[in-house]
Amino acid sequence: MSDDTGAIHIFFQYLSPVVDKTSYEFLSPDDRQRLALIRHERRRRQFVAGRALLGMALADLFGSAARRWRLEARTGPLHLEGDQAPQISLTHSHDIVACAVAPVPVGLDVEYCRDRDIAALVAYVCSETERRAYGMLPAEDRKAWFYRLWTTKEATYKALGGNPFPDVWSAERRWLAHSESLGFHVRDTALQRASLELPEGFVGTIVIANARPIRLQMHELP
Ligand SMILES: CC(C)(COP(=O)(O)OP(=O)(O)OC[C@H]1O[C@@H](n2cnc3c(N)ncnc32)[C@H](O)[C@@H]1OP(=O)(O)O)[C@@H](O)C(=O)NCCC(=O)NCCS
Repeated sequence: MSDDTGAIHIFFQYLSPVVDKTSYEFLSPDDRQRLALIRHERRRRQFVAGRALLGMALADLFGSAARRWRLEARTGPLHLEGDQAPQISLTHSHDIVACAVAPVPVGLDVEYCRDRDIAALVAYVCSETERRAYGMLPAEDRKAWFYRLWTTKEATYKALGGNPFPDVWSAERRWLAHSESLGFHVRDTALQRASLELPEGFVGTIVIANARPIRLQMHELP
């Protein structure tokens, strides 16, 4: 496939119950050391599947040129090093793993919407404006609203770094109920966010550091 540099690519996949042996080929020596420290069985599968998915995504988009780039996690968050390397982001939740490949800084976050003490989380991670907005919602809308906000915060953090709980409340407030790409600002940086179409029970958000609307291409791998 030839790369369409204007598009942001998202690859996602269901986690297989057993790690395919070929997936280990995508692990660098550093990755193998990190994997050795992960005890939780599903977390191990997520780690290996994330690296394999990213490797397959890059090969699909860039062919043999992808071999120029090296995945690096020792210095800062996971990123690609090498000439003209694209920006990437990785996420896993429950039995889904996903990665984004973009020409500009990108953050991707997927969450399985399990039941948890949403009110306590709102008190912890939300700005005052966000808390007020949450308080005005009907009870049945609060969980979905919160997960959209949470994944937007996580994706923003992944794209920009800095404050782990960025205030992502936007002048364009309708984005919280909207699935199209919409703009907002964090610390004077223009960003775009979009909700992902994912299987029932999951919420996913992508954030890119770009003022222009996002053109997403979703790729589901078997
Ligand atoms: C690091 C963090 C962003 C990971 O998010 P998560 O939802 O726990 O887990 P996800 O599966 O979505 O993402 C994990 C991947 O993110 C990547 N990652 C880790 N730290 C990162 C960072 N600082 N920036 C960008 N990407 C990062 C890694 O690739 C990691 O996968 P790997 O360990 O298999 O390589 C999150 O734990 C965190 O610290 N968030 C900030 C504060 C917070 O608690 N926010 C809550 C919502 S407001």
